[in-house]
Amino acid sequence: MSKLNIALVGAGRRGGGAHLPVIAKLKDVYNLVAICDIDEEVATRYAKEYGATPYTNVRDLVDREELDVVDITVPGVAHHAIACFMADAGVHILCETPIAVSLPTTDLIIERAKANNVKLEVAENYYRVPRERFLSKVIEADVIGEVARIYRIFHEGGYHGMSMLRLRAGGEPKSALGITQTTPVIPIIDRMKRHHTSERWSLGFIEFDNNATALMVYSNVIHARSLGRGQTGISQIDGSKGTIVGEDIYVTPADQLESGARGVPYRPQRTTIDMDGLDVLEKISLELPEQTVIWENPLKNYRLPEGRLAVADELLSIATAVLNDTEPEYGAARARQDQEMNIAMSESGKRSRETITFPLTELTETERGTHESYEKQYGHPIEDIEAGIDTFFPRR
Ligand SMILES: NC(=O)c1ccc[n+]([C@@H]2O[C@H](COP(=O)([O-])OP(=O)(O)OC[C@H]3O[C@@H](n4cnc5c(N)ncnc54)[C@H](O)[C@@H]3O)[C@@H](O)[C@H]2O)c1
Repeated sequence: MSKLNIALVGAGRRGGGAHLPVIAKLKDVYNLVAICDIDEEVATRYAKEYGATPYTNVRDLVDREELDVVDITVPGVAHHAIACFMADAGVHILCETPIAVSLPTTDLIIERAKANNVKLEVAENYYRVPRERFLSKVIEADVIGEVARIYRIFHEGGYHGMSMLRLRAGGEPKSALGITQTTPVIPIIDRMKRHHTSERWSLGFIEFDNNATALMVYSNVIHARSLGRGQTGISQIDGSKGTIVGEDIYVTPADQLESGARGVPYRPQRTTIDMDGLDVLEKISLELPEQTVIWENPLKNYRLPEGRLAVADELLSIATAVLNDTEPEYGAARARQDQEMNIAMSESGKRSRETITFPLTELTETERGTHESYEKQYGHPIEDIEAGIDTFFPRR
C-alpha cells in the first residue's frame, strides 16, 4: 500500500494531544510531513517532536508540500475556512467535530469538497469507541429487540450526543424539543482547560421516524465532570425484548416470559492481550443462553491504548476512502445532521419550547447569532474564507 502524506493543522489540545500520537503510530499508512499552527511556538515544538516541517499558515503549507490528507484540528469556528481552502487545494480532509458551527458554513465545506472531488471525513469519535462499537453489534444482533427509547442523562450532549441518539434510534429525526436554562457558576477552568462562568443546561426530546424517541440532559459543566456534576450518568436503551442499562444487557429467559418476565443482567467480558508490556484490548464479548455477541478490535496490531482507538479509526477511515476511492465511514452528511439536530434543540429553547421539525429549511436565530458574534469578534463575515485562514482563533 502506498503511504499518504498527511499534515495536521491546529496542534492545540486535540491536535497535539490526541491526533499526533496516533498519526505517528499509523506508520504503514501515513507519512506525517507537516504541522501547521498559527502559533509559531506550537508549530515548531510539535514539528520537532514528530520530525515534520512546521508552518504557521496554510497558504505556505499547500504551496510547499505535496499533501494527500489534512487533519484539521483548529477550533470549530475555523473549520469551514481551513477546510474550504484545503479542498480548493485538492487535499482530502479529516475534520474535527463539529463539521462547522452552522449549516450554511457546513454546506460551504460540502460544496467545495464535492467541486474539487476530495474526500471529507469528520472525526466523530463517540460511536467509534470499543464499548459503543460493541453495543452496536448487540443491537444489530437483535438481543434487545426493536429500540423504542434512549435515555442519555448527564452524558455528552451537543452534536456528539445527537450522533449517539440517532445511531441508537436507528431512524431519521422527525422533531426536536429543547428546554434550556443558564445559571451562574463560580469561575472555573475544567480539566480540558475550558473556562466557565455559567452553566448552560439543556434537556432535549427527539422523535424519530421509526417511532423511537430519545431524552437527553446535558450541560457544559457536566462535560468535564466539574463541580461534582455528572458523576452518575444514566444511559439506558429500551428495546422491545430487553434493555441496555449502562454496561449491563438485560434479557428475559424464554421460560419466564409469561411468569414474571424479569430481565436478567449480563455483563460483557473484556479480553486484553499483553503486547510488549501494554494491555491491548482484543475483544468484548457477551455470552447469553441462546447467543454470543463478539466485537473484535480490528486495530489491535497497532498496539494502541484503548483511549486512542477512536482517533485511529477515523484517521484510517479517510485513508481507506482515499486509497480505495470509496466514501468515508461517517461522512459529512451525518455530521451535518448532528449539527442540525443540535441547532434545532437550541432553537426550540429560544422559541419558548416550540417543537422544531426536520429538516431545518431556513437560517435559525441560533445560527444568525453565531454568525453575528463571529463577525463582531473577528472583524469579517463568517463566509470570508480568505480572511478566516489568516485569523488566530484563540482557545475558549
Ligand atoms: N471529538 C472530540 O471529542 C473533541 C474533543 C475536544 C475538541 N474537539 C475539537 O477539536 C478541535 C480543536 O480543539 P482544541 O481544544 O484542541 O483547540 P485548541 O484551541 O487547544 O487548539 C487549536 C489550535 O489551532 C490553532 N489555530 C487557531 N487558528 C488557526 C489558524 N487560522 N490556522 C492554523 N492554526 C490555528 C491554535 O493556535 C491552537 O494551537 C475543535 O474543533 C474542537 O471542537 C473534539
